[in-house]
Amino acid sequence: MPRIAVLPGDGIGVEIVPQAIRVLDIVGRKYNLDFSYTEGLIGGAAVDATGTPLPDETIELCENSDAILLGAVGGPKWDNLPVAQRPEAAALLPLRKKLGLYANIRPSILYEPLVDASTLKREVILGTDIVTIRELTGGLYFGEKKREKKETGEEVAIDTLIYSTSEIERITRLAFEVARNRRKKVTSVDKANVLESSRLWREVTKQVHQDYPDVELEHMYVDNAAMQLVRRPTQFDVIVTENMFGDILTDQASMLTGSIGMLPSASIGGKVALYEPSHGSAPDIAGQDKANPLATILSAAMMLEYSFKELDGAREIQEAVNKVLAKGYRTPDIMEEGKILVGTREMGDLVCQELGDG
Ligand code: IPM
Ligand code: MG
Repeated sequence: MPRIAVLPGDGIGVEIVPQAIRVLDIVGRKYNLDFSYTEGLIGGAAVDATGTPLPDETIELCENSDAILLGAVGGPKWDNLPVAQRPEAAALLPLRKKLGLYANIRPSILYEPLVDASTLKREVILGTDIVTIRELTGGLYFGEKKREKKETGEEVAIDTLIYSTSEIERITRLAFEVARNRRKKVTSVDKANVLESSRLWREVTKQVHQDYPDVELEHMYVDNAAMQLVRRPTQFDVIVTENMFGDILTDQASMLTGSIGMLPSASIGGKVALYEPSHGSAPDIAGQDKANPLATILSAAMMLEYSFKELDGAREIQEAVNKVLAKGYRTPDIMEEGKILVGTREMGDLVCQELGDG
């Protein structure tokens, strides 16, 4: 029986995760995957209950599961805690690191019914289908950080950006593998005109590319990539980039799909993979049944695909989402005139119905 660790976390996390579990359950039964679910504490919820945002029991639970479904962590209540207790810095990032999840896969797919929900023009975003592969356990996020006092008494803060050849090699190799099953184009995003780490990134990427002559490789500076993403998103197939650039570019790319509430993610590379929506805990709408559960539901689809190799089940979920949207149902983040406004739970109901339940 495949075991799933469920970490709802904070804010809207506790509202969206149950909707994804309902969907997983229906599809799992159809495909003879009798999932068992065990809930664990993470983030502010864990701080409140145990004093620490990433309790040892949660790490153990994750390590002993076949896949992890996470909601979101953080919120104003915990923003002023010391760094060692902050949900983002002391829970999410160490969890990714401990589990060896060096690759974060974020697909930005425009579901056609949402073509007018984006702030961008329909003719620009039509046909958007990008997979961004973000390096997740290196770079500025994990390099040494410190504060120092200069002789003048002024304070300086230092963040360190480090990448090794092996870190670059494994992530770019994954990008070429993914591109091989798609439109066979990789755009490697860096800032090689300024950063030494980017120059190494570019060198290693070129070397790895020699093993993938059937895939086209282009290099693009991150500033240009930010511009090209909104100028002509259909030029991209697979984007591979370092941690911080990937964080920024994937939020931007989410608007190509109408809302960040549509953007799922899979973090892979270790024994157990982690699936979470790309958005945060949205404290401003938490507890109001307003959050869009589709990014989490689509993350569950990615779980079926990557952890359980159940591609048909994954496609079924994506199709169900598309149908619900085509019928005009919208959570507030993707609402347009003339559409039917629904809450978090009802959106979950609708996807379940489409999947033949209820
Ligand atoms: C993301 C988030 C996280 C990140 C935060 C919450 C630390 O923005 O998953 O994109 O920067 O990785
Ligand atoms: Mg982010």
